[in-house]
Order: sequence, then structure tokens, then C-alpha cells
Amino acid sequence: MHLNPLILGGTTEATALCAALDAAGISGTVSFAGRVRRPVRQPLPQRVGGFGGAAGLAAYLAAQRISHVIDATHPFAARMSANAVAACTAANVPLIALTRAPWQAGPGDDWTHVPDIAGAVAALDRPALRVMLAVGRMHLAEFAPNPQHFYLLRLIDAPDTPLPLPECTIVQDRGPFSVAGDLALMRRHRIDLVVSKNSGGTGAAAKITAARQLGLPVLMIDRPAIPPRAEAHSPAEVLDWLRHSGTARGV
Ligand SMILES: NC(=O)c1ccc[n+]([C@@H]2O[C@H](COP(=O)([O-])OP(=O)(O)OC[C@H]3O[C@@H](n4cnc5c(N)ncnc54)[C@H](OP(=O)(O)O)[C@@H]3O)[C@@H](O)[C@H]2O)c1
Repeated sequence: MHLNPLILGGTTEATALCAALDAAGISGTVSFAGRVRRPVRQPLPQRVGGFGGAAGLAAYLAAQRISHVIDATHPFAARMSANAVAACTAANVPLIALTRAPWQAGPGDDWTHVPDIAGAVAALDRPALRVMLAVGRMHLAEFAPNPQHFYLLRLIDAPDTPLPLPECTIVQDRGPFSVAGDLALMRRHRIDLVVSKNSGGTGAAAKITAARQLGLPVLMIDRPAIPPRAEAHSPAEVLDWLRHSGTARGV
């Protein structure tokens, strides 16, 4: 069976999967949206940029004779994931998502759940705090209605345009992060509140552990809904699926 998988990437998990595929002697293509200026180098050939919606992705799958799609995007990349479900159904290409369980509050955690970014913005309509805002570069402007807070932003790339947040400090860094590092960062900036997407996984979990250890509240943004699809939770499971699921093309 000729395997020619497409990996929708942009996550630590996708990087681990590409390494596992390479180690297993399986090639394919990894795709990035192009949000990050210098994506982490992968052992597989890569492409960058949107496909042009579900129809564009379906056309790409056919043109490139893709045998399988592995959606290893971030759990908040809901549009890409929905497009993958629609395109794979239309093109009759097997799809699996490499997912990570959401974080769960445990003893010592002080979480308030909000359903989305707009909910986090609404919850920040309160007197000034020192906030670690860990929502990624794309959503920062949405926090403009609450300029009273100090915001600590950790970003892979500096923003292209000035931010509408008068009091903010940008730390440029790329995960995975350590608890010791995040404890020091939060102490240094005298953080009162952490705003986080419920990304799950290990790469970004340090700030949640650090918040617990410092007794800080967390405003936790719950995950967007994604249409049902097959799921795997490790690169090994994906490899097993690749080897055992029949390809739609029968090649
Ligand atoms: N959202 C987060 O918090 C977050 C965090 C860490 C990493 N990431 C990564 O950043 C990328 C973009 O995330 P997002 O939240 O902006 O996604 P999104 O809102 O679901 O996607 C918006 C559009 O970007 C394009 N796109 C997204 N991921 C792509 C990929 N891997 N390859 C090619 N095109 C892609 C697609 O364009 P077309 O419709 O034109 O195909 C998609 O419709 C993803 O690779 C994701 O894994 C996201």
C-alpha cells in the first residue's frame, strides 16, 4: 500500500508525529497555515498557506493523491478541523485527528470557565489587574475594550502592528515551557490572573501548574466545537491507523 499522508500541523504534537513517521520510513507532507514566521523544521516536506476552504482542500487531496489526512492542528483551530472533515468526506480520503485531552481543574486550581474569547473579554470588564494573557497573537486586538489591565504577552513572533493594549509587555518565546520558568515569569511581572485557552497537552501546561502553585486564578477559555471524526491520542496510534486503515484510492 502506498502511503502519502497529509499532516495538518502547527503544534508540538504534529512535530512529534512527523518525527515518528520519518523514523518509520513513511513520507508525506506537513502543512502550516503560515502564521509563524519560522515554523519548527520538520523531517517531512512541508507546504505553507491556506488551501482555500474545504473545497480547496478537497481539490488539493485529489491533485496530490493524498492517501490519508491527519489533523494535528491545535484544538482551537476549529475552522481548519471542520474543513478537514468536510474535504475528506467529499474526497473520500480517510481522516484521523491527533488530539490531546483538555486540562481538568484539580485540587488547588481556581478556574473560571468562559466559552470563548468574547467571554474572556467580558469577564475582564473589571478593575485593573496584572494579567498573563496566553491566547496567541491572532486574538490580542479583541482585548482592546479592557485597556485598564497590564497584560503580559508571550508570543512566538512580535506583533506586526501596534497593539491596542496601552500597558503590555511582550516576551518572545516558543514552547514547550517549564514550570520553574513560568513561576519566575509570573513572579517577575507580579501576575494576578492567567487567561488561557484550554489547549491541553504538555507544551503549554506549565503556566497552569505555575498558577496553581502561586494560588492564582485562571480564566479558562473552553474549546470550540468540532464535527465528529476519528481520533488518536499518540503518534503510535496514528501509525497503527495508517498501516491498517484501507486507503480510499486503493493504491
Ligand atoms: N488557534 C490556536 O490557539 C493555535 C495555537 C497553536 C498553534 N496553532 C496552529 O496555528 C495554525 C492556525 O490556527 P488557527 O486557529 O488560525 O486556525 P483556523 O482558524 O482553524 O484556520 C483558519 C484558516 O487558516 C488556514 N489553516 C489553518 N491551519 C492550517 C494548516 N495547518 N495548513 C494550512 N492552512 C491552515 C485554513 O485556511 P483555508 O480555509 O484557506 O484552507 C483555515 O481555514 C494551525 O496550524 C494551528 O495548529 C493554533
